[in-house]
Amino acid sequence: MTSHSSQTSYTLIKNGTLITASDTFTADILIQDEKIALIGQDLDIPDAKTIDAAGKLIMPGGVDPHVHLDLPMFGTVSSDDHYTGHKAAAFGGTTTVMDFVPQDAPDLLMNVTAWREKADPKAAIDFGFHMNITQFNAEIAAQIPDLVSAGITTLKVFTAYNGRLRLDDGEIFQVLRIAKEHGMLTMLHAENGDVIETLVAEALAAGHTSPEWHARTRPAWGAVDAVLRGAALAAQAGAPLYVVHMNTAGGVDMLQYARERGLPIMGETTPPYLFFTVDDLCRPDGAKWICSPPMRSQADNARLWEALGEGLIQTVGTDHCPFFYDGATPILYEGEEIAIPGKELGAGDFTKIPNGLPGVEDRLPVLWTEGVGTGRLTPNQFVALTSTNPAKIFGLYPRKGALVPGADADIVIWDADRELTYGAAHAHHRTDYNLYEGWKLKGYPEKVFLRGNLIVDGDVWLGKAGMGQFLKREPGAETI
Ligand code: URP
Ligand code: ZN
Ligand code: ZN
Repeated sequence: MTSHSSQTSYTLIKNGTLITASDTFTADILIQDEKIALIGQDLDIPDAKTIDAAGKLIMPGGVDPHVHLDLPMFGTVSSDDHYTGHKAAAFGGTTTVMDFVPQDAPDLLMNVTAWREKADPKAAIDFGFHMNITQFNAEIAAQIPDLVSAGITTLKVFTAYNGRLRLDDGEIFQVLRIAKEHGMLTMLHAENGDVIETLVAEALAAGHTSPEWHARTRPAWGAVDAVLRGAALAAQAGAPLYVVHMNTAGGVDMLQYARERGLPIMGETTPPYLFFTVDDLCRPDGAKWICSPPMRSQADNARLWEALGEGLIQTVGTDHCPFFYDGATPILYEGEEIAIPGKELGAGDFTKIPNGLPGVEDRLPVLWTEGVGTGRLTPNQFVALTSTNPAKIFGLYPRKGALVPGADADIVIWDADRELTYGAAHAHHRTDYNLYEGWKLKGYPEKVFLRGNLIVDGDVWLGKAGMGQFLKREPGAETI
């Protein structure tokens, strides 16, 4: 490093303990502009801005494979947009999120363009898109390969939400085949839509309207059946499959069944499914826990933890899709009062409660405290589940999810000793509640870099709308 142009910027992070998906070691990291330039011992770069990270952990920025920002649903909209959701993600140590494009217009690429018009000016961290395929015909089949040129290599299909989002088995099979042919990956929302429709109609007719009926009308067996069916359809199509937001022990058993037979089937869970149960939906404020698929039992929580430890489930995302609990009462967000209709829309009818939870900021600190802090996960497994594996599965590795020269300098300096009482007042989600209200956490991001730019410094936000980049992804990503 003898000479360089005056425009080049160097940051040297010294003496930190690097945690990757496979290794733990002490080293210095040199950031040159947006990239990691060097990792080594006793680096001395006179012009570099130097940060002493002695006693701190250094991890690749989190990659959240599953968020829903600014998504219209249930007569309202998810309350974080592509700025507020990205900012919250960054404070939690996540520097890449993957959002879902709804299939509203008949032309797939028109939907992508519309979603980019919303996201691009607001984006504060890097982001990619998955495309929902919720209507299928020969025209849509012909358009799917065009998504690849737009940088979208992943498709989400649903076995629930009859008449709205669900495809039938034949359609899912065809999507899987097209995806396989073009190096794309299909993602599956696994529930049994037919059983749900029947049980919901019966529950309402019987006057059961409280939040717990959301879970009672979506039985766990529906997820078990749908995971196995999805795996079997993928096997028949010769295609890989990624099962999103897994919430049941039985679903994990089916994932295990498929993987033991050598099928390229992968799974994701989210933190709430590791902690909460249908009992939380029985609380007076149970609407706060309403999402699909729903919270289940402690046995399901335990099996999901086990699956993370065993590597049976590959990723922890969030399915971040926040709504206000009381959308009639404003909160202060960046100095402005804001209120967005939310869970109160379903007072008196559980079917009208917007489905979705906040969580993009909670993911890393909560999983660290409850996973690494309790010995259920090693720090390396934590990095694999929250950063490296999603980067690999979604075609972003090693640009994202890796601490190697040439990777984007998306870096979290993690203070494993920081203790705090967490909750809505601490978090940056644009909503009025937090699922982990009052939880004692130990371990928290101290500094967060996005492509070499310091965007979070302690409690200070240095990021800006528009600095996040859309990630065009290549087909043919790894299955792990
Ligand atoms: O309740 C949820 N999860 N809402 C978001 C949509 C989905 O199915 O992921
Ligand atoms: Zn889903
Ligand atoms: Zn989702």
